[in-house]
Amino acid sequence: MYRIGKEEIDAVARVIESKELFKVNGGKLQETANFEAELRQKMGCDYAVLMTSGKAALISALVGLGVGPGDEVIVPGYTYIATAMAVIAVGAIPVIAEVDETLTLDPASVEANLSPHTKAVIPVHIQGFPSNMNALKKLSEKHGFAILEDACQADGGSYNGRRLGTIGDAGALSFNHFKIITSGEGGAVLTSRRDVFERAFIYHDSSAIAYFGNQLDNVSVEPFCGNEYRTCEITAAILREQLKKMDGILADLRSRKKAIMDALSGEFSFRPSNDIEGDCGVTVAFAFPTEEEARRFATAPGVHGVLPIDTGKHVYTHWTPILEKRGAHHPLLDPFKMPVNAGLNHNYSKDMCPKTLEILSTTVYVGINPDWTEEQLAAKIEACRKAK
Ligand SMILES: Cc1ncc(COP(=O)(O)O)c(C=O)c1O
Repeated sequence: MYRIGKEEIDAVARVIESKELFKVNGGKLQETANFEAELRQKMGCDYAVLMTSGKAALISALVGLGVGPGDEVIVPGYTYIATAMAVIAVGAIPVIAEVDETLTLDPASVEANLSPHTKAVIPVHIQGFPSNMNALKKLSEKHGFAILEDACQADGGSYNGRRLGTIGDAGALSFNHFKIITSGEGGAVLTSRRDVFERAFIYHDSSAIAYFGNQLDNVSVEPFCGNEYRTCEITAAILREQLKKMDGILADLRSRKKAIMDALSGEFSFRPSNDIEGDCGVTVAFAFPTEEEARRFATAPGVHGVLPIDTGKHVYTHWTPILEKRGAHHPLLDPFKMPVNAGLNHNYSKDMCPKTLEILSTTVYVGINPDWTEEQLAAKIEACRKAK
């Protein structure tokens, strides 16, 4: 969470005073409908659906794309576990691929892991680093898989001038506490595909749409049983204020990241970017020849660095329920035990992505705060320089 205050307090008060906290037919304020319209406009896509979390958005988008049992979905071995769990939640099998030096999904590894069962690929814009969307789009056009962008750590970032989450067939945003904009918890599906929107929309609120209001008007997909990922008007009201702040937060993150990289470029190496202009500026990724050097730098006074290899459930080696194939609470719902998935690629091991582990062990993240003063920024640069 970066910037939250009086505007959000007033927005919450406005909703409570209206006594209309339910989004469906929700009174005069229509906070959710307004937020979704504003998000569509800001991001540049035809549809946006607000829901309870980024994982809910990933699952709903996969449902929207028609992913299910019998399908493989390629995910990077470096992402929050929720990305891979979302695949399992729809009955499909996550295939774990390498990241490259940009810390994002390696298109060569995607190609190496393609099979006749590959239904979708999920590039993850981790730490706001844009994935190599051109290369992935080319592969998707050649091989016919769908792209679902996991932009949960990259709200508002872009690639070649287009907002992350709107370049593939669908995208997922998160608004949890740690994200660029936040309502504590929350997420959204972005898409410009009508079929994906309708299916994701039905799935995210499959009980309510049958009973409340006219939400099913103009929907051509037959309603099916899904989930309940609906949010309330307070969430939307907070996010409307957060959305107004998003580009300012990104500009301040980016300018501070650039200042650090410019000041230290002669002395350090950095991980390359697929689009440094669109990068969210959340983190400077320093590159070192060895893990030992990386650790020495990370722990030097004032640096406060983190090696991504130490970030627990962001590294596939820590995805224990997946590696050990416990895919559901009931065996008949467990994709790893479904006969239709028996021949798919779920041969996991802790050493299956050696390149990813090497890159994560020799990278140091230095996190940026968009509210750093000139003095604080200069102190951070100085601390890094001394740690050389
Ligand atoms: C890359 C990534 N994907 C998905 C998620 C899931 O988002 P949420 O916590 O909102 O469900 C997160 C959350 O941290 C994430 O970092």
